[in-house]
This record gives sequence, C-alpha cells and structure tokens, in this order.
Amino acid sequence: PTIYAITPTFARPVQKAELTRLSQTFLHVPNFHWIVVEDAATKTTLVTRFLEESGLIYTHLAAVTPPNYKLGRNDPNWKKPRGVEQRNAALRWLRENLRPTDRGVVFFADDDNTYSIKLFHEMEKIQRVGVWPVGLVGGLMVEKPICDNNTSKVIGFNAAWKPDRPFPLDMAGFAINLRLLLENKDAVFSYEVQGGYQESEILSQIVTRNELEPLADFCTKVYVWHTRTEPPQLNVEQLLIKKGKRSNVGIEV
Ligand code: UGA
Ligand code: MN
Repeated sequence: PTIYAITPTFARPVQKAELTRLSQTFLHVPNFHWIVVEDAATKTTLVTRFLEESGLIYTHLAAVTPPNYKLGRNDPNWKKPRGVEQRNAALRWLRENLRPTDRGVVFFADDDNTYSIKLFHEMEKIQRVGVWPVGLVGGLMVEKPICDNNTSKVIGFNAAWKPDRPFPLDMAGFAINLRLLLENKDAVFSYEVQGGYQESEILSQIVTRNELEPLADFCTKVYVWHTRTEPPQLNVEQLLIKKGKRSNVGIEV
C-alpha cells in the first residue's frame, strides 16, 4: 500500500526546520505520499520550494482555518482544535483523486512530532485501523492501547487525560486503511466537538473499538513521540526589525 501522511502546517520561525526533520525521515519510507496542507489562504513560496526540492512524492494544498477558530497569540492551546480545516481538505483530496482499487493507509502526521521509520513499516499491515503507543503525550511517558496477546485485540487504553473518550488516543497513535475512508465518504473532523475529541470524532465514524488492530509488537514499542518545539527566542531580531534591519535579508531560514 501507499502511505498517505497528512500534515497540517503553518508559517512560524521554526516551520522550515520542522518540515526538514519530517521530510528527511519520510525519505526513508518506500511508497510514501506526503499531503502537506498549509493553514494559509494560498500556498506560500517557502513551502512550495521546500516540497519541490524535497525529493518526496507529495501533494501541496492550502486550507485556511476560519478566523473564529484560529488560536489567538495568547490563547492556551487547548482552547481551539488545530488542523481541522487542513485534515479535512486532505480527506477531500483523497476522496476526489483516488479510486476504490487504490491501496493505501492514511496517517495524520503533525509537523512537530518525531517519527521512527519503524512506524511506517507497521502501517503496511493495516486492514482497517491500526493503533500503537505514543510517547510523551497526555501527561504520561507513554499513552497506549492495552492489548490481549492471546486474541490480539485492544481491550482498553492507559490514557490518563480524558480517559472516557470513545477512542482515548492521540492523532499520532493510529492510521486508517484508505478503503475505509473512501467507503465512509462523510467521515471528517469537526469544530463542534470538545477539546481532545478530534481523534474520537473521525474514528467513531469508521470503526469500533473491537476492530482496532494493535501494532508495534502488541503495543509494547514506541515509534512516535508527541514532541513539541519550543518557540525560539528572537529578542535581538525584534530589536533589529524596529531599526528597519534583519539578520535574514536574502536568506531563507
Ligand atoms: C494535539 C494533537 O497531537 C493534535 O493532533 C491535535 O490536532 C491537537 O492536539 C488538537 O487538540 O487540536 P498539539 O501538539 O497540541 O497536538 O497540536 P499542534 O502540534 O500545535 O497542532 C497540530 C497540527 O496543526 C500541526 O501539524 C500544526 O502545524 C498544525 N497547526 C497548528 C495549523 O495548521 N495551524 C495552527 O494555527 C496551529
Ligand atoms: Mn504537536
């Protein structure tokens, strides 16, 4: 199958660094198709050029988050969901451009996480929805499905954050067989759900808990980490900008 990785991304000082780290992991993955969706009204030159030079097979889209759903500069990040508009644009693209005979697996790859190439090998096995542990998320070292080794079924989750969610896992903790997304044409992400319920929203439209396929050695291995990049200190740059100067004249960072 082809692995379709859907990455929402937005302009900020660390954007190119994040995309570079991701792309250089993804270059190691065979049959990989990157769907990069900018949170912007139109595609930017930086991302356009970046993708052209990446060496990856990709689709580049833009889908801006409506202003009333965009996080303010000082809003805590749990206040509004991120990536909804962008992931839905990517799902629409898949549904408009792929055929029922195409074999694929769809994964939501945020631009700040850290991915082992081992994760993508696991995804090749997915019949419906595969799940696995995610490191450094939900207030825990690892958030993971609990697996019955005899039946290889998911029998629970160790989540501590909002454990009553229908599917208490992070966006990085599952991938979906393309066939299910093409069959369930209306399955999308939504702004009308509680914080932290995006994963449950999409999954409950296409799968039951009993059908989940535990991967990564019966959910005993961590191949993805919910890392978050600290915003850089640009205090000196701010001073330069006030004087009408900057360190990055004619140089893309
Ligand atoms: C957690 C989950 O890991 C996300 O998958 C989920 O979307 C998010 O919570 C949520 O509740 O909405 P977190 O690390 O807090 O993640 O989210 P971010 O990494 O800040 O954002 C998720 C994705 O959306 C990233 O790829 C980011 O580049 C993108 N994003 C973020 C935008 O496209 N626009 C924004 O204004 C902010
Ligand atoms: Mn993140």
